Amino acid sequence: MIEFKGLTKVYESGDQPVRALDGIDLKINEGEIFGVIGFSGAGKSSLIRCVNWLEKPTNGSVIVNGKDLTQLAPKQIRDVKRNIGMIFQHFNLLNSKTVFANVAMPLKLAKVPKSEIRERVTELLEFVGLADKADYYPDQLSGGQKQRIGIARALATKPSILLCDEATSALDPETTNSILQLLRKVNKEYNITVLIITHEMTVIREICDRVAVIEGGKIIEEGSVFQVFSEPTTNTARNFVSTVMNDTLPESIKKIVRNNAGFQKVFRISFVGESAGQPLLSKITKKFDVESNVLFGNITELQGVPFGNLVVEFIGSERDINRALLYINQEKVAIKEVEANAG
Ligand SMILES: Nc1ncnc2c1ncn2[C@@H]1O[C@H](COP(=O)(O)OP(=O)(O)OP(=O)(O)O)[C@@H](O)[C@H]1O
Ligand SMILES: [Mg+2]
Repeated sequence: MIEFKGLTKVYESGDQPVRALDGIDLKINEGEIFGVIGFSGAGKSSLIRCVNWLEKPTNGSVIVNGKDLTQLAPKQIRDVKRNIGMIFQHFNLLNSKTVFANVAMPLKLAKVPKSEIRERVTELLEFVGLADKADYYPDQLSGGQKQRIGIARALATKPSILLCDEATSALDPETTNSILQLLRKVNKEYNITVLIITHEMTVIREICDRVAVIEGGKIIEEGSVFQVFSEPTTNTARNFVSTVMNDTLPESIKKIVRNNAGFQKVFRISFVGESAGQPLLSKITKKFDVESNVLFGNITELQGVPFGNLVVEFIGSERDINRALLYINQEKVAIKEVEANAG
């Protein structure tokens, strides 16, 4: 469990003080995958670095597994830190050491006996799928493989928390996906709480349970991934959601709607959950004398549940269309007419 209470961080190093974090209140539950998303400079790295004491808060507190770090002596802080692993955007591996030695490093520092180190590193390399690369050097690995090594190293001391600072930002989409799946496996199999900071909404969509949006050092929105995706309340959150769920009508479709105003009825149907799996449109065509024509759509999956919206033209008599609408409403599917001048 990680909790921030009134967390403020002011950097005094430059000409002018920078208020990177400004009164953060946030709670990350044990066992969840929590994402913090924000634009560059929002304060993401500052926030995550306060968890493992790479940065010291100016004000407020950081509570890790029930212990307020701001109240601990250096030795106690070291104990808490041993319980926290971290991975980085640029992997931060030592190029002069082999993969084995990189993963073994935290264990060596903790003075774990050699035989135990060998056993643990072997197990970890197997876990991340790179058992055959133990004697390679980081330069001989791809970015995705380097991050796998980064993950193995972060898990070496059996932490209960894994911090990920833009861990997939240097990777292509496919590799990103495989790393995210590995992080999910870390979370599920070892029951490790994962805190991810990112500027990519795809990362949030793929694996997070809950998400917070950070801007100007403040949390401006927070909720389950489903909540924030389906009903973002701030412009920033809406912008992030639109990067993966583009739901503004393309100009070409708007034109069709405008040109044919009065002849057709165009609706936006929002699918949430199970309803998206139903062959709703074909049912309507069968049940009523209404033809449907999908003009535009965007359906994705959030935490294993289908989610999205379709812009559909219904062709038929007003009476039949109204009956179809009534039916759709009963199915608990949100439907709204798209106006000719709609956005
Ligand atoms: N060591 C430092 N000294 C002075 N200012 C800093 C320091 N580290 C960060 N800042 C400033 O604090 C603010 C937040 O920085 P931070 O690195 O937390 O942002 P971020 O959200 O991680 O950005 P990015 O997505 O670019 O990594 C920025 O204005 C940054 O310039
Ligand atoms: Mg950063």
